[in-house]
Amino acid sequence: MPGILLDTLRGQVTDRRPVWLMRQAGRYLPEYRALRAEKGGFLALVYDSEAAAEITLQPIRRFGFDGAILFSDILIVPHALGQDLQFLAGEGPHLSPRLVDTALSALTPAPHHFQPVWDTVRLTRAQLGPDKTMLGFIGSPWTVATYMVAGEGSKDHHLARAMAYRDPAAFGAIIDAIVDSSLVYLSGQIEAGAEAVQLFDSWSGSLSPQQFERWVVAPTARIVSTIRARHPEVPIIGFPKGAGAKLPAYARETGVDAVGVDETQDPRWVHAQLPPEMPVQGNLDPLLLISGGAELEEAARAVLAAFADRPHVFNLGHGIDKSTPIAHVERLLEIVRSSA
Ligand code: CP3
Repeated sequence: MPGILLDTLRGQVTDRRPVWLMRQAGRYLPEYRALRAEKGGFLALVYDSEAAAEITLQPIRRFGFDGAILFSDILIVPHALGQDLQFLAGEGPHLSPRLVDTALSALTPAPHHFQPVWDTVRLTRAQLGPDKTMLGFIGSPWTVATYMVAGEGSKDHHLARAMAYRDPAAFGAIIDAIVDSSLVYLSGQIEAGAEAVQLFDSWSGSLSPQQFERWVVAPTARIVSTIRARHPEVPIIGFPKGAGAKLPAYARETGVDAVGVDETQDPRWVHAQLPPEMPVQGNLDPLLLISGGAELEEAARAVLAAFADRPHVFNLGHGIDKSTPIAHVERLLEIVRSSA
């Protein structure tokens, strides 16, 4: 019995809508904050397989989500490619040296960073019920490259966008290195027990149409075709946040099995644009989950109604915010679970 999440990602319309939430393991949970304080920071948790497995399971125990998303980060790939990685409190990630002024070839790869994450997958899968799906993930090459080039998060990703125009050969080499490393990382997750995987392309919205084809669609298609050839039974969810009107082309051209949809898209438009048999995941605005009330209920029902006739995984349009009240998550789950 593979469970309704995996069934849905394989194209079935199930009796009840499967549900999980991006960033479901994290700071809105008191049990996460307690473990983080004890272990001394985010990265220490990621590389402590037992702690990371525990954190992956926390939201499943509390809410019974249909999928458990591996507790790790998209920036483990730059760490394994040889950048120093730090998460400073209140500042977000820092990678050094940044590739805007240091050559990729100056880095010393550190592929051993993958092993504890793979161990997390194995430990988690062993503790998950058979009806729950273990989800692995990577960041898509473009999104990961924006951090590797700038050394930190940036508003409009201008350092990476400028480098891609100024020196497409050097930028392409960074993308190729991310693709190769991501394939190792993701295959290892699947071999350790991940049953479906998501490609997070959080910053795909900052590119022009031509650059989107070159730096989002093409490298994603390479990852999808390689993983599909190695692991044809594992559904691949692509989440090109901010893709807007480029979503249908992304769905067609990358070869992903399912698409994640952000909250800026009208679910009825998405439903009309995508092939009727293609599973869709999304797309409630995470901010509604902070405010709650009648607006939350109405919007959740609208998402459920728009995607009622196709395989649909209920999720948010982006990660759950750290200030989200637990009671609002519980209310949302009641609504999703009582719908057909
Ligand atoms: O529950 C889950 O979804 C599983 C784990 C997960 C994390 N990050 C844990 C995390 C996943 C899937 C990610 C993906 C990720 N990481 C993305 C893509 C998705 C998205 O949100 O757009 C990106 C861009 C990153 C990079 C990253 N990691 C940033 C920019 C930050 C700092 C911002 C912040 O929210 O603090 C992180 C840290 C991070 N990754 C935290 C968690 C739980 C917060 C760490 C903490 O302070 O406890």
